[in-house]
Amino acid sequence: MRALTIERRLSDGYRHAALRQDVLDGLSASPKHLRPVWFYDAVGSALFDDITRLPEYYPTRAEREILADRAGEIARLTLAGTLVDLGSGSSAKTRLLLAALREAASLALYVPVDVSDTALAAAADGLRSDSPDLAIHAVQADFGAQLTALPRDGRCLVAFLGGTIGNLPPAERAVFLRDVRRALVPGDALLLGADLVKDPAVLVAAYDDAAGVTARFNRNVLRVLNRELGADFDLGGFAHVARWVAGREWIEMRLRSVRRQVVSLPGAGLVVTFGAGEEMRTEISAKFRPEGVRTELAAGGFPLTRWWTDRAGRFGVALSIVE
Ligand code: AVJ
Repeated sequence: MRALTIERRLSDGYRHAALRQDVLDGLSASPKHLRPVWFYDAVGSALFDDITRLPEYYPTRAEREILADRAGEIARLTLAGTLVDLGSGSSAKTRLLLAALREAASLALYVPVDVSDTALAAAADGLRSDSPDLAIHAVQADFGAQLTALPRDGRCLVAFLGGTIGNLPPAERAVFLRDVRRALVPGDALLLGADLVKDPAVLVAAYDDAAGVTARFNRNVLRVLNRELGADFDLGGFAHVARWVAGREWIEMRLRSVRRQVVSLPGAGLVVTFGAGEEMRTEISAKFRPEGVRTELAAGGFPLTRWWTDRAGRFGVALSIVE
């Protein structure tokens, strides 16, 4: 067995302070909002895993189709020695990349990066039994600013898959891409997954499934606030809402208060009132056009080396080799 390192760049204290600040800002704002990063405690990460298997949630399968077809090409083009996996989650799709990079005989080090320590531990465990010869350096971190001084062995391929880039509003995407670019040198590469603009009915169904798993995922953020901030949210008092915002080309998930209710969050020193029917935004998931991906990558200093979509044209993957 090769080395397994787990590096924590997010202390519990830092995370707690960040949650407190986000909640203070977001619940005092109008309209109210929360950052999607707080979905992913152990329960939320498991619920997201369930989402990826829903019939309506096509992005995971579409992206996996692209990676299954193109992993060999990606490995030959990048000859990466290090795979950095941002938001690795359970690392399922990453296995395709790892196998191809091993085939190209370039792979030496796998660096999963995630905010969730339970997801990281599960990913590292699974991969360790799959590929006992692979060195793993897991990093618990928030994306972006914390991506400095990543461990590397040879050329670095940073994968940011699943369409998670769409959780960031445009200005934050620009900052994020510049942060990633700064962590890289010529010859390194970025592999970016982006969900594409399509029929709004298909998009809304993907975020409002018939079995109600996404609704549970959405409401789970309230349970996180109850636990972390001693809040008294009644989960039954909030309805799941998924909306296509045409002007912004993004899906918005919201929680709608079904009645007027007062919620206290002692850990944030806050008491907030939700009006009957008031909606709080919990996530944006932006959908892209190929030209938009090219433009945003270019603004971050990344040329578009390859662009692939799945056969149905639902999802895109961009490969950029840094010049
Ligand atoms: C994990 C961020 C890619 O935006 O599609 C799934 C999260 N939210 N269903 C997405 C999510 C609701 C997902 N990402």
